[in-house]
Amino acid sequence: MKIDQLLSQSDFSHADLVNLLACNDADMLLLLEKGKKIKQEYVSNKVFLRGLVELSNTCVKNCLYCGIRCENTKIQRYFLNDDEVLEAVRFALDHNFPSLVLQSGERTDTAFVNRITLLLEKIRKYSNTPIGITLSMGEQSEEVYRRWFDAGANRYLLRIEATNPNLYKKIHPTDTLHDYQKRINSLYLLKKLGYQTGTGVMIGLPFQTLDDLAQDLLFFKKIDIDMVGMGPYVEHPDTPLFQHQAQLLSKEDRMNLSLKMIAILRIMMKDINIAAATALQSLDDLGREKALNAGANVIMPNLTPEKYREGYKLYENKPSTHEEAHDTTTALENRILSTGDTIAYGEQGDSKHFIEKKKIL
Ligand code: 5AD
Ligand code: SF4
Repeated sequence: MKIDQLLSQSDFSHADLVNLLACNDADMLLLLEKGKKIKQEYVSNKVFLRGLVELSNTCVKNCLYCGIRCENTKIQRYFLNDDEVLEAVRFALDHNFPSLVLQSGERTDTAFVNRITLLLEKIRKYSNTPIGITLSMGEQSEEVYRRWFDAGANRYLLRIEATNPNLYKKIHPTDTLHDYQKRINSLYLLKKLGYQTGTGVMIGLPFQTLDDLAQDLLFFKKIDIDMVGMGPYVEHPDTPLFQHQAQLLSKEDRMNLSLKMIAILRIMMKDINIAAATALQSLDDLGREKALNAGANVIMPNLTPEKYREGYKLYENKPSTHEEAHDTTTALENRILSTGDTIAYGEQGDSKHFIEKKKIL
């Protein structure tokens, strides 16, 4: 099928998706243009900012791709104190983007769960205005997810990482802690509890095929997700997956494939929030801007205090400069404006898809 014909559809079969993902450079430009056009039409050109706070790099898991996996003894583990988190909250409020993502490695022990609950309550009391809080803290029990929701978290990000169970197995250890079905169930739990729920995958993983990526896109649609954050896989030398580095797509190809995924998803799910993932920027300095031009509408400036940045290296070349926080209003704004988009200051930036769904219920 020709690209014009494919792009005139808004529902794609598995075969259509593979064709779109495999399209040549000239067709890719048309695809990205269409992604941007649909974004403008359905969610406008206003980009939502979320201050990203990387709370702790301690993790009980051992994902084969991740630099902060528990078996990596080369890094120093840290946990921000509450004041440091509140400082980031202050920064986001002062700069008029009342929305945060609190991310950390996975832990399920009581001390951790209680700490997060108290922190959420503290943030709620600290801020005079309502603030959107996204958690990204992995798989937890229903009770814990409920506690955190009641304490003030209203969004949750849990990337499925790879929807093909066989691929999932190849990039995770085989044990109960890294159980594919449990991760899927967690996503359904989050939805049931009322969270705006986000997921995502890594793009360009070793062993991954275009069929897998097509399946990923169909999965997002099937579970009717509210937000997606997906970005390129970036190898990390201190991880087991690094040994497959020779078989990876080039950085440019991983970048282009990521942009295609974003544009296709925007066409398929017109009113969801799609993040321009930080990993895009580690492959290409203009990666996030390119993502905005393909249909993404969320950017997460990193507000983690500088001294901890080195410790949160999930992958190689992760942007870790201090600039980000302080340049939020200047450099980042200019980067966003350069794409023709504007910034949705003053807004928490709920997923339109989620709001519309709630209206119907
Ligand atoms: N490359 C790209 N993304 C990675 N993540 C972890 N390791 C890598 C890597 N090597 C992503 C995972 C996880 C998120 C917090 O970071 O998708 O969900
Ligand atoms: Fe832990 Fe997440 Fe890294 Fe896996 S990807 S090791 S769960 S921080």
